[in-house]
Amino acid sequence: MSNAKRNIFVTTALPYANGAFHFGHILEYVQADIWVRHERMCGNNVHFVCADDAHGAPIMIAAHKQGITPQEFVAKISAGRQQYLDNFFIQFDHWHCTESPENTELSQDIYLRLKDAGLIYTTDIEQFYDEEAGMFLADRFIKGTCPKCGAPDQYGDACEKCSSVYSPTDLIDPRSAISGTTPVLKTSTHYFFRLSDPRAQQFLREWTGGKAADGKPHVQAEVLAKDEEWLNGNLADWDISRDAPYFGIEIPGAPGKYFYVWLDAPIGYLASFKAYCAKKGMDFVHELTRPDTEQIHFIGKDIIYFHTLFWPAMLHFAGKPYRVPDHVNVHGFMTVNGQKMSKSRGTGISPLDYLKLGMNAEWMRYYLAAKLNSRVEDVDFTKDDFQARVNSDLIGKYVNIASRAAGFIFKRFEGRVSDEAMKDKVLSGIRAAADEIRDDYENREYARAMRRIMQLADVINEYVDREKPWELAKNPEQAARLQYVASVALEGFRLLTLYLKPVLPATAERVEKFLNCEPLNWSSVDACLASSRPISKFEHLMGRVDREKQLDVLLPDATAAQAIKPEKKAAPKAAPAAPAASIAAAAAPAEVEAVADVCTIDDFSKIDLRVARVVKAEDVEGADKLIRLELDIGDGRNRQVFAGIKAYYKPETLTGRLIVMIANLAPRKMRFGVSEGMVLAASYQSDKGRGVYLITPFEGAEPGMRLR
Ligand code: 2FM
Ligand code: ZN
Repeated sequence: MSNAKRNIFVTTALPYANGAFHFGHILEYVQADIWVRHERMCGNNVHFVCADDAHGAPIMIAAHKQGITPQEFVAKISAGRQQYLDNFFIQFDHWHCTESPENTELSQDIYLRLKDAGLIYTTDIEQFYDEEAGMFLADRFIKGTCPKCGAPDQYGDACEKCSSVYSPTDLIDPRSAISGTTPVLKTSTHYFFRLSDPRAQQFLREWTGGKAADGKPHVQAEVLAKDEEWLNGNLADWDISRDAPYFGIEIPGAPGKYFYVWLDAPIGYLASFKAYCAKKGMDFVHELTRPDTEQIHFIGKDIIYFHTLFWPAMLHFAGKPYRVPDHVNVHGFMTVNGQKMSKSRGTGISPLDYLKLGMNAEWMRYYLAAKLNSRVEDVDFTKDDFQARVNSDLIGKYVNIASRAAGFIFKRFEGRVSDEAMKDKVLSGIRAAADEIRDDYENREYARAMRRIMQLADVINEYVDREKPWELAKNPEQAARLQYVASVALEGFRLLTLYLKPVLPATAERVEKFLNCEPLNWSSVDACLASSRPISKFEHLMGRVDREKQLDVLLPDATAAQAIKPEKKAAPKAAPAAPAASIAAAAAPAEVEAVADVCTIDDFSKIDLRVARVVKAEDVEGADKLIRLELDIGDGRNRQVFAGIKAYYKPETLTGRLIVMIANLAPRKMRFGVSEGMVLAASYQSDKGRGVYLITPFEGAEPGMRLR
C-alpha cells in the first residue's frame, strides 16, 4: 500500500426530505461512516457529505396538504436529522439540501454542458394528466402494473419488484394516486437526455465494466450484471423535465419547465461538497479536479440504475471540472425476520424508539458491521441474533477482557503495566492480524473483520483462562506474574479496541482515556501500553442487551411472529371462497360483520380523524382493561385517552408509535379522569376469542395529519 495520503470525497444517498430516518438509512450511513473512519485512521483525507433530497411532486403535495411551502416542509424535516446522526455517531462533515443556490447553479451548468454536447433534445409527449386535480401527474402519483414483469401496484417510474425503469405511460391499467381517477393523456413538451446516443452507450459500457485508479472495479459484480442487462436491452433516452406546478429547479431557457428530481438529486452531492468547501475555505473546483481525488458513493440496491448509468453519463459528458465516480458501493436492504421493514407489519423498527428504550447505538453499529459485506445482500435483524452478537460477542468476549485485567493493574500496580509483557507472543499474534483486518475494512468486508476480531478476543480470553490471574492475585509471590498476565490481556484489549474503533468510536474514545493513550489509528498497532503511562480506573464501558426491557419491547413477539408467517401458508386451504385471503383474513371470524347503513360524505366529515403519536402509555391503577394514552396530534397540546386495549398491548410497546384518534369526540368523564377521544382499532370476536389491532398509518404520516 502506498504511503501517499488519499483524498476521498464520500457520499451516502440523499434521503427524501419527506420523513424521518428509518433503519434503512442508518444502515447505509453506518456502513459509510465505518469506512470513512477507517480511512481517516489510515491517515487519509476524507470529505464525507450528504444532504436532503428536497425536490419532486410528493414533497410539493405533502407541503400543500399541510398548508405550508415546500421550503418550510423541507426545513422541518431537515431540522430533525441531526439527532439521529449524533446518536448513532454518524459523522458527516456537512449536511446540505438540494433546494440550495449551489445545487441550482450546478444543475443548470451540467444541463447546459449536456446541451452543448448535443445530448439534449425536446419532444412533445403525451403525459398523464389528472383532470380532477388539475395537474400533470408525477411518476410517483401514477400506479399500475409493471410493463416488464407484470407486478401490480407499481409506481410510474420504476418497478420495486424487477427494478426496471420506464415511463408512466408504459404502465398497464394506470390510475391517479391523487384522485383515484383514470388519468387522461395530454400533450406537453419534454426535455430528454439522449442516452441512446452511441457515445453514451459506448461510455457506459466502458465505465460500468471498468476500473478506478485503485485497480478495483467501479461497480460490484452483481451491479455490473444488472447494468449489462439494461445496456443490452437498449437504454432509452431519459425524460429529465417536469411541468409546473413542480417543486424543483427551473430549466434554463424553458419557462414553466423544471428538472425532474432525479436529475438534480445526485448533483446535490456536488452541491453539498461545494458548500462544505466554502465553509472550510477550500476551492471546490481544485478539490474536484485534483488528480488524486476519489469520488465514492454509497447507495442502496434500489437506485443502481440512476447511479451507475444516468449519473456517470451526466458527469462524463458535462466534462471538467466534473469527474465520474470512482466507485458506487451498493448495499442491500435491512430486513426484520427476513421481511421488508414495514410499520404496518410491526417490523418497522424506528431508530428513535430504539434509542428511547435506552439501547446503545454502538450495539447496532456493531450488529450491522457483523452482518455487512461488500456484496449486495440484505442485512437481516432478528432478536436472537442481535442478543447473541451483542451479549455473547461484544460484551462477553471484548469488554470482558478489560474487566478481567484492568482492575489488577490499577489496584495492585498503581496503573503500571509490565513493559516486558508487551513482547509476549500472544500479542505478536494479535498484532499480526492488523493488516488483514485493515484490508477487510478497506474492502467493506466488515463481517469478516468482526469475525477475525472476535477470534482474537477468544485467544486473549483463553490466555487469561489458562493463566488464571485471579489465582495469581492470591499469592504475593506471584505479583510479577500477575502484572505480566494482566498486562498482556490489557494490551490485547487495546489492540482489539483499535481494530473495533471504526465501528465503536465512542467506546474507543473512552478506552483511549482510561488506557491513557493517544487516539488509536492504524499506525498505533506497535505503539503499546507502557509503564511510564499509568492507566486510570476502569469505568463501565457497555452494558448487555436486556431481552425483556429492550428487545421484546422493540419488537414484540406478536408482531414479529405475524411478520414471519408466510402469507401463502396463512391462507387456510379449506377456504376456496377467499382466494386472496391475507394473514388478517386468515385470523378473521367466520362470520363477517354486516356493513353499516349508508352515511353521507357530510356525515363522515363530521368525524375528525387525526394521526396521533403516543407520547406516553401507562397502566391505569384499578382498571384491568384500560391503558392511559397521551397523544400528540401536532398542535402542542397532548390529549388524554383511556383505551380498552390492556389485554392486547403492553404500554411500553406503544410509546412513540403512530396511531389514529378521533379528535373531536365529546370528552367523557371517567372514574380515572377525562378521556378526550378514542383511538381506532380493528377487532374481531369469534368462538376462539377476541382480537384487537390498533390502526397505524403508513410511513411518512405525521402527527396532526387528518384522515379523509
Ligand atoms: O431514493 C432516494 O431516497 C433518493 N432520495 C436518493 C437520491 S440519491 C442522490 F441521487 F441524491
Ligand atoms: Zn417489474
